[in-house]
Amino acid sequence: MNVLILGSGGREHAMAWKIAQSNLLTKLFIAPGNAGTKEVGTNLEINQTDFEAIKKVVLENNIKLVIVGPEDPLVKGVHDFFLNDTELKNIPVIGPQKYAAQLEGSKEFAKEFMVRHNIPTAAYESFTTENLEAGHKFLETLTPPYVLKADGLAAGKGVLILNDLQEAKDELTEMLANKKFGAASSKVVIEEFLTGIELSCFVLTDGKSYVTLPSAKDYKRIGEGDKGLNTGGMGAVSPVPFLTDELMKKIENQVIKPTIDGFQKDNIRYVGFVFIGLILDKGEIKVIEYNCRMGDPETEVVIPRIESDFLELLIAAGNKELHSKTIEFKKESACTVMLVSGGYPEAYEKGKEILGLNNVENSIPFHAGTTTNSNGKVVTNGGRVIAITSYGDNFNEALKQSYKNIKKINFEGMNFRTDIGFDL
Ligand SMILES: Nc1ncnc2c1ncn2[C@@H]1O[C@H](COP(=O)(O)OP(=O)(O)O)[C@@H](O)[C@H]1O
Ligand SMILES: [Mg+2]
Repeated sequence: MNVLILGSGGREHAMAWKIAQSNLLTKLFIAPGNAGTKEVGTNLEINQTDFEAIKKVVLENNIKLVIVGPEDPLVKGVHDFFLNDTELKNIPVIGPQKYAAQLEGSKEFAKEFMVRHNIPTAAYESFTTENLEAGHKFLETLTPPYVLKADGLAAGKGVLILNDLQEAKDELTEMLANKKFGAASSKVVIEEFLTGIELSCFVLTDGKSYVTLPSAKDYKRIGEGDKGLNTGGMGAVSPVPFLTDELMKKIENQVIKPTIDGFQKDNIRYVGFVFIGLILDKGEIKVIEYNCRMGDPETEVVIPRIESDFLELLIAAGNKELHSKTIEFKKESACTVMLVSGGYPEAYEKGKEILGLNNVENSIPFHAGTTTNSNGKVVTNGGRVIAITSYGDNFNEALKQSYKNIKKINFEGMNFRTDIGFDL
């Protein structure tokens, strides 16, 4: 079978790396891909949201399965585009249709879904410019810190957590009346603040059945001790060491099952990944958010821990036959450490030659923001550049291995966190 993966990050490289190992694969294409995906498949130079261009390559290359990595094409309706096209409608797309992608694309949609299906989450109210005053009044009834969330996609910047009431009121005005995040903040969800430790769960579903993938915990801030600016993610570990079987059962019963049942009750035909962001406080679980795709860099530890044929699972999901499959994990832990460009997550330069990748031993370098320049050299092409994934008997052993290999890699301005897993 010929397969296409849409996207260009570490997540897509990790998926491509795993799918390339499947006996069910004939040819693998990645669009647009990066310097790493080129090693395991064929990169296609098209934009991941140019649906007509996607159609052309799918037909030209006899592609029979499409896996959508990032949220953007899903929220824009790539799956719906396939279903509405006579030549594409029988080609399965892994990733939900536009309506269901609102689980990620609209915080309010997700909250309403959780409330409707009794899935534990923080109490909330949502506001628009029309009831801005009511929003200010609502803030007065809460105790700090105040959690303000732009309803729509805001590139990971749309959530503000503020300690001061006046500041929270001003920010609410900024978001609603002055469109701080553009159309994404024309609605704002104000939430109860939750304390606890965050972790993520991932499921692959065909809308009825599901398999639960390995759990993971990621590290979002640029600085050591998880301080400083938010990033796309600086590292991750899997499994989450404190996630006991008992706790996993609880998550399964209180969150995963009601979510999949909720799709059925709401007549949502969901095929794809559900990323569930959770917070755990004194044994109590609450959902922080859903994403309609895998996380990055969590994928770079979750996928390597899957023993089963991943493509077989994806094909089954696409054919709505996931009930006939089980998933096996590797016993080892995995970790990943992200190498980022100097200055990231603020302004940074691209095009720096990456040295030493060939010297890496017993780790897997998953390319995130890389490309091949006109001289055939692998160079940086984004803020997050390469995720160095390793296995170990526990996450500490895995981390040691990643840090050992990172010493062999260099590019101008290279930065990374030395404390991934510090809180575990
Ligand atoms: N109700 C809440 N209480 C405490 N922290 C929260 C709450 N909601 C979100 N956060 C924090 O903000 C981060 C981002 O929020 P999230 O809903 O995941 O939005 P997004 O990932 O779309 O930016 C979370 O990972 C968590 O650390
Ligand atoms: Mg989040």
